[in-house]
Amino acid sequence: MNVSSAVVRAFGLAKTHGQGQSRVHAVDEVDLEVPQGQTLAVMGPSGCGKSTLLHLLGGLERPTGGEVWVAGRRIDTLSERALARLRRQSVGFIFQAFHLVEELSAADNVELPALLAGRSRRQARRRASLLLERVGLADRARHLPSQLSGGQRQRIAIARALANEPLVVLADEPTGNLDTSATLDVLRIFEDLRAAGQTLVVVTHDERVAATADRLIAMRDGMFVDDTRLAGSHPRGLGGLIGLEG
Ligand SMILES: Nc1ncnc2c1ncn2[C@@H]1O[C@H](COP(=O)(O)OP(=O)(O)OP(=O)(O)O)[C@@H](O)[C@H]1O
Ligand SMILES: [Mg+2]
Repeated sequence: MNVSSAVVRAFGLAKTHGQGQSRVHAVDEVDLEVPQGQTLAVMGPSGCGKSTLLHLLGGLERPTGGEVWVAGRRIDTLSERALARLRRQSVGFIFQAFHLVEELSAADNVELPALLAGRSRRQARRRASLLLERVGLADRARHLPSQLSGGQRQRIAIARALANEPLVVLADEPTGNLDTSATLDVLRIFEDLRAAGQTLVVVTHDERVAATADRLIAMRDGMFVDDTRLAGSHPRGLGGLIGLEG
């Protein structure tokens, strides 16, 4: 693995909650390198620390031990303000429960992160419309989230996660609330992301989602218990979801 090309790195990464008897090692001194362009799936039983790991890697939570580096920069020691900027500029998050802004249209939800990352109104609009097209929802641009199905909402949330052209996308159970047909839509998009070289870490209970990744880490009790290459088991899609200009 080429360390210098790692987008995300963690050393001795740890997060403990609580004190004394009720102390929980949610993440227990893990080391990780995610090279540019790698798609990594993380699986493991409920409570083993997957969400905590993602939050630490994306700067949503701070570790109680170790270091996190994103794009060659140590992030766990940044100020809140610098951390927020890092998230806006470089990270895309996808959640199980979508977390769309209910008052904003699909297109405005997707535009927002591009604006926050410093794009002009025009660039943000253009990028949003390209992304909506790529997730197959150009015809839903003016709909509110409440007017969309769960699967459509998640595709909007994926488009939103890509709006700032993130160095890394972090997805937590992205298909956890979806039926099979909506899950297949998301799988196709993830295949495209992999083909397009998007660095991605996805936490999932769904083996079909894990199978779209290049690499699979199994987690248990805050630790990595297995780390497997999933070499090219899936044909590459046409790609093009990312790297869109403007
Ligand atoms: N704020 C908190 N305070 C105390 N303990 C916490 C807190 N957040 C998480 N934990 C504990 O840390 C451990 C890891 O939680 P985490 O949410 O990362 O698990 P997970 O693998 O994502 O589980 P799931 O698959 O159910 O989403 C759990 O034992 C949980 O109870
Ligand atoms: Mg979780």
